[in-house]
Amino acid sequence: MNIFFNQNTKTFTLNTQNTQYRMAVVSDGYLAHLWYGGKLPDEDLIYLLRFDESPFTPETNNRERGSFMDNLPFEYPCFGIGDYRESAIAVLDSEGMSACDLRYSSHKIYSGKPALEGLPATFDNGGDCTTLEIEMLDSHLNLKATLIYSVFENSDIIARSVRFKNIGNEPFYLKRAYSACLELDSSQYDMITLNGSWARERMVQRQPLHIGKQSIESLRGESSHQNNPFMAVCSHNADEDNGEVYGLCFVYSGNFTAMAEVDQHDKTRLLMGINGFDFSWKLETGENFQAPEVLMTYTNKGIGQMSRNFHDVMRSNLIRGKYKDKTRPVLINNWEATYFKFDTDKLLSIADEASKLGIEMLVMDDGWFGHRDSDNSSLGDWFVYEEKLKGGLKHLVEQVNKRGMKFGIWFEPEMISPDSELFKAHPDWAIQVKGRPLTQSREQYVLDFSRKEVRDYIYFMMREILDSANIEYIKWDMNRQLTEVGSATLPADRQRELWHRYVLGVYDLMNRLTTDYPDILLENCSGGGARFDAGMLYYSPQIWCSDDTDAIERLKIQAGTSYVYPCSAMGAHVSDCPNHTVGRNTPFKTRGDVAMVGTFGYELDVTRISEEDKKQIPHQIEQFKKYNLLIRTGDFYRIGNMFEDNTWDAWEFVAKNKSEVLFEFVQVLARPNMRSRRIKLKGLDPNAYYFREDNPEQVFSGKALMQCGINVAKIWSADEIWGDFASKVIHFIKA
Ligand code: DGJ
Repeated sequence: MNIFFNQNTKTFTLNTQNTQYRMAVVSDGYLAHLWYGGKLPDEDLIYLLRFDESPFTPETNNRERGSFMDNLPFEYPCFGIGDYRESAIAVLDSEGMSACDLRYSSHKIYSGKPALEGLPATFDNGGDCTTLEIEMLDSHLNLKATLIYSVFENSDIIARSVRFKNIGNEPFYLKRAYSACLELDSSQYDMITLNGSWARERMVQRQPLHIGKQSIESLRGESSHQNNPFMAVCSHNADEDNGEVYGLCFVYSGNFTAMAEVDQHDKTRLLMGINGFDFSWKLETGENFQAPEVLMTYTNKGIGQMSRNFHDVMRSNLIRGKYKDKTRPVLINNWEATYFKFDTDKLLSIADEASKLGIEMLVMDDGWFGHRDSDNSSLGDWFVYEEKLKGGLKHLVEQVNKRGMKFGIWFEPEMISPDSELFKAHPDWAIQVKGRPLTQSREQYVLDFSRKEVRDYIYFMMREILDSANIEYIKWDMNRQLTEVGSATLPADRQRELWHRYVLGVYDLMNRLTTDYPDILLENCSGGGARFDAGMLYYSPQIWCSDDTDAIERLKIQAGTSYVYPCSAMGAHVSDCPNHTVGRNTPFKTRGDVAMVGTFGYELDVTRISEEDKKQIPHQIEQFKKYNLLIRTGDFYRIGNMFEDNTWDAWEFVAKNKSEVLFEFVQVLARPNMRSRRIKLKGLDPNAYYFREDNPEQVFSGKALMQCGINVAKIWSADEIWGDFASKVIHFIKA
């Protein structure tokens, strides 16, 4: 067991491989946070709470209870009883009161990890989890809040969530129900977040914390392009390899808040959970509410180690299904090749060429259903557009299979076009506020996925398609955010539940789909990468990273994404040039080397690219297959930092046993009259020697590679890197 309770000091200790988390039941049953950091011996840490300094505890000086409340580092802070910092919970009771006061009542520790009802969450993988449940009680409100913590045997991660129950006779409302609070005894940190926009997702932002509140959020109904449900705080001097870092990642795909508050005493409170703005959840007698999970990590080995901690737990305890530990089929997607202008013949001409080059799957993107010739119609009409797909879907799939390729298909299940049969039949199925005009976005509305009959019908149509042909992959897209959030069926005092009920509905359908079709590879997508979050990774082992497929833009997008999410989950394709988003021309080789970091595939009209480019495809596929195991299972190290110096980038995958290393370099801008760049490798065995696979004569000690580095872009040599946007891949093997 990695979780202990010390009866004498009333302290809970949670141990991970290299970290420790402590909390204690203190005066009047409050649960105080004591410590999160490196491992300590079993000693009493209550002194960290400074009870010997005024205003003392309520037990000894109840006159100053208010100051006590405003000082204590709370494990799960409440509002209305003297703690004026941001609270984790807000309530409204049947008498209109908002005070909440949670005190310790009991706890249990057990092996394993509970599933969270209706929600994605990490799971016990072969007995590697221990769980602590602490029951907190507000006996006035009759609210029970169970704080749930799980630790994993092999990763420095703590998973947290909270389950609420109304154990009284009166209903009340949760107005906010965050999943985690983490108190830090200093404000000397930088906050790191991942922010962006369409085609520019997960750009790394870093700034020093300042007094007051700083936060990111989504109120869009999905995790969003703009802010990713992740935050870290790190020591001011932390870099990729050194320094303290606390990382928090939300396993959720809807509205969220991630906040840091620096208080009057220069302490920091971190909070993460479902966004409390426009949120309300009614709890009737006996009802539960389960808040989603937060994954927390601590390291003193820098930002890179934080990322590797997240990657490890997601790869082993979050991602599921047949493809979890498999190289994904190399696909070709017709979106950037044809957009809406395709038919059976066009798709088959792509398949003809692609199959000859070794591409393994054809994915038919948007435009195959209803009468969809542009983005202005047919969402919700999930039946085949026969004029486009002459001979039908079964015929097309059979023809693709005949060419030795698998077949994949695109859906946008959550959406409805005003111009659709579905909308004509069920206008009330769109999310809307009665009497207000519906806001269009990409000329479409959002279906009310809180309604089971809506989900059932959409699923029925999807099944008709999936059962009609040999479909082996689905791209689940979502191309707009929510507005006028109202449901035709919820009562007034439950309307604000819709944001969350919508997300639960999406999870329900993904769950049904992946349960009924366990062999289908599901890839999530949301107008590019607006739903690249840990919630989605529970259902799909890969997520489309961004609609920006330019190799150079992808350096930042993929680096930002890798702060939290494993490379094996990043949807990445080689696309055509000039790039459709930025108009840039990059070498075909570089496009392949950059896409190889992720799931790998093509997004171009292979019948129209140059012979020179085409010739490289079999080699790129071979390279992807050769290194994919290392990429999927190895430790990822960022070496270059495009956010600080955007003239070059480099990264590396190191096998867990350090037996091999894949090093990749991209010269963004060529430099005149300069010597080669010397770049230090990371994470190798310092006592081993490594040789270059492409040039076994070149042998380096692990120490030399890490301390001195290698010369990259050596001009006039076999390693020549010529011109802007050139790339180089070097494989080192332990001698
Ligand atoms: C947005 C996705 O990110 C694209 O890849 C493509 O599938 C389009 N939607 C289709 O509408």
